[in-house]
Amino acid sequence: MHFGAIARVPGDPILGLMEAYARDTNPDRFDLGVGVFKDAQGLTPVPRAVKLAEQRLLDGQTSKSYVGGHGDAAFGQLIAQLVLGDDAPLLAARRAGATQTPGGTGALRLAAEFIRQCLPGRGIWLSDPTWPIHETLFASAGLKVSHYPYVGADNRLNVTGMLAALESVPTGDVVLLHACCHNPTGFDLSQQDWQAVLEVVKRRELLPLIDFAYQGFGDGLEQDAWAVRLFAQALPELLVTSSCSKNFGLYRERTGALLVCADSAEKLQDVRSQLASIARNLWSTPPDHGAAVVATILGDPALKRLWADEVDAMRQRIAMLRVGLVEALQPHGLSERFAHIAAQRGMFSYTGLSPQQVTQLREKHSVYMVGTGRANIAGADAARLQVLAAAIADVCR
Ligand code: LMR
Repeated sequence: MHFGAIARVPGDPILGLMEAYARDTNPDRFDLGVGVFKDAQGLTPVPRAVKLAEQRLLDGQTSKSYVGGHGDAAFGQLIAQLVLGDDAPLLAARRAGATQTPGGTGALRLAAEFIRQCLPGRGIWLSDPTWPIHETLFASAGLKVSHYPYVGADNRLNVTGMLAALESVPTGDVVLLHACCHNPTGFDLSQQDWQAVLEVVKRRELLPLIDFAYQGFGDGLEQDAWAVRLFAQALPELLVTSSCSKNFGLYRERTGALLVCADSAEKLQDVRSQLASIARNLWSTPPDHGAAVVATILGDPALKRLWADEVDAMRQRIAMLRVGLVEALQPHGLSERFAHIAAQRGMFSYTGLSPQQVTQLREKHSVYMVGTGRANIAGADAARLQVLAAAIADVCR
């Protein structure tokens, strides 16, 4: 027997909620678990720009041969422009480049392997709390994982604690920062906070790895890139992971990129040679379809405009749901207690509900959210916010 000693591990807590929700027959159920956007019909739509690009690809694609180790060159160029800005001096100086990856998670894994193999001995610092996969992904790549405070037990952003902790991070270590729409809390740094973080990063000579999974879901496509661009122009070196899952609605196509900014064009090529070699051992070459869709959209001004409008509509819907939920909580005397939901950014909200309240919400009201009290506000139904508010009020009594 080879497998006799293998024990069963618990399923993924976030993906497991999807399955539990699917099994629930209550017509009044709410899916606030996994981070997917839902429209007024409760569907996670394929954006029209994506459909049009797919049609073009279907008609025009002449080969399914491999893309190279860094993926589709047009995708790499266009995604780097989307993240760093069309006129980024870094791009003109050939100091920045993108490697196509299977989703943002693939980009994180590639970054983790790069750090372990090419920057041996460097630890990584994560916000407390952070996306649970950050914890397991970097640990399973063999990196030493440590934490800096971010949101405390009072459910408030703790910038002072964060800055103080970063001051004592060993020189050279990697700091993971969320560009916008912090997952799981929804609490983002202000521009002033980012400037302060940048100062510590410079002083301590830390290497930032910025996770940029929600471009366009916070304040807008350009606005959300503000911190990434600040760091890219102020620092000689930077790593950024970009995801096309949410803003292009390409979740299952696994489309993302790892961007590297280096201090010279020459050094960038050295780093990229390592990335291609590491990727070859992870997934060989990346899947094509999602990146081909993104390149088609970003490379065509009319499709890009259509897509940008669609992203804006998703962003506005989430903002409307946030405000609407706080309003719906008002008759229950809870609008002040939950006012932060309207101020947070992106899909997620650390509601401040306890694990017990989350369990009660699921068992009594078929409201599904992560045990930490993280709710995917983008999964709520605008027409039933009163029902959701009544369920929350019930477990808060
Ligand atoms: C989430 O946090 O729900 C999303 O990022 C989806 C995922 O893969 O966990």
